[in-house]
Amino acid sequence: MEKMLKTRYAWTAGTVVITLVAVASALRSGEGPVDRDRIPAAARKEIKSVELEIDRIEAESLNKARSTTLDRFQQITLLGKLIFYDRQLSVKRNESCSFCHMPETGFTGPISTLNRTTAAYPGSVRTRFSGRKPQSHTYASFSPVLHYNSEQGDFVGGQFWDMRATGLRLDSALAEQAQSPPLDPTEIGFIDPACMVYRISQRPYRSMAETLWGAQAFAVHWPADAKQVCDRPGPAPDADPFPLHVLNVDRGIAQTTFDQIAEAIAAFEGSPEVNPFSAKYDYVMAGKAEFTPEEKAGYELFRSKTTHVLNSWTRE
Ligand code: HEC
Repeated sequence: MEKMLKTRYAWTAGTVVITLVAVASALRSGEGPVDRDRIPAAARKEIKSVELEIDRIEAESLNKARSTTLDRFQQITLLGKLIFYDRQLSVKRNESCSFCHMPETGFTGPISTLNRTTAAYPGSVRTRFSGRKPQSHTYASFSPVLHYNSEQGDFVGGQFWDMRATGLRLDSALAEQAQSPPLDPTEIGFIDPACMVYRISQRPYRSMAETLWGAQAFAVHWPADAKQVCDRPGPAPDADPFPLHVLNVDRGIAQTTFDQIAEAIAAFEGSPEVNPFSAKYDYVMAGKAEFTPEEKAGYELFRSKTTHVLNSWTRE
């Protein structure tokens, strides 16, 4: 009996190991049958139409860049928008920032099938899902660099649900946030920050970026295998954290340009186009509209009782 049990355990253990190996290799390839099932057909259809809309906005912005006279601030904002809507700036050339932050849904995720089910969104490697629901970045530019507010006895500022983009390095939480998705294996998925710079160096708005950032911005000696390396999804292996082997001064140039890319994205996210202050609430605050009696009651309840209500909820 004991022997039989042992054999049975051995069999079970063997099957589990084989299954795990199969699942792991399917996940690693990013294309396995396990993953293909995760995106429902209805979501696939919506994804297609979101991609078309992203390309339309990108083309419209490119036209604007070519045909309009803009001052420096407007140029930086437009450059940020071009980057934000450019699907070529992802490991599989299919997913821009806007894929998870579209204007028609207030700059959060636009795909209703996913909003009703997974809440999280697939990355450029479409079989990998990002960890959380995309936040709207409308009004996010008003969040300061993370700091301790002693009056409130709490931390204030930063970006992300958990404030992990602090803004301490670039003096802008929003710019620092923009450096995370490009390297997140479940989002844009690059293996090296320099890949973002390499890809932009091949885009039609490169000269606009050079005018704003200087001729050095893309003057990097790209290694012969740059294309192959940047087509490979991250994360980078621990033993080789920067697999696009640009060396010394070139690494510095690429990092500086990566910072400027982030700052341009932040300029777009902070622009009036993204922060319209056009809600009825904004008009009431500006004295241009009035609340209905019901809205007024809700507003007063919110102002007077919310802290109390929230406290009792969190205690339960
Ligand atoms: C695959 C979906 C996806 C993509 C692509 C993506 N994001 Fe997000 N975004 C998210 C998720 C999910 C969060 C919340 C994550 C968290 O808090 O951990 C988020 C949070 C943010 C926030 C924080 C807002 C706040 O109030 O704290 C900003 C800003 C933002 N994203 C901008 C960007 C930019 C810029 C890019 C491109 C460089 C980008 N996102 C690409 C899913 C995505």
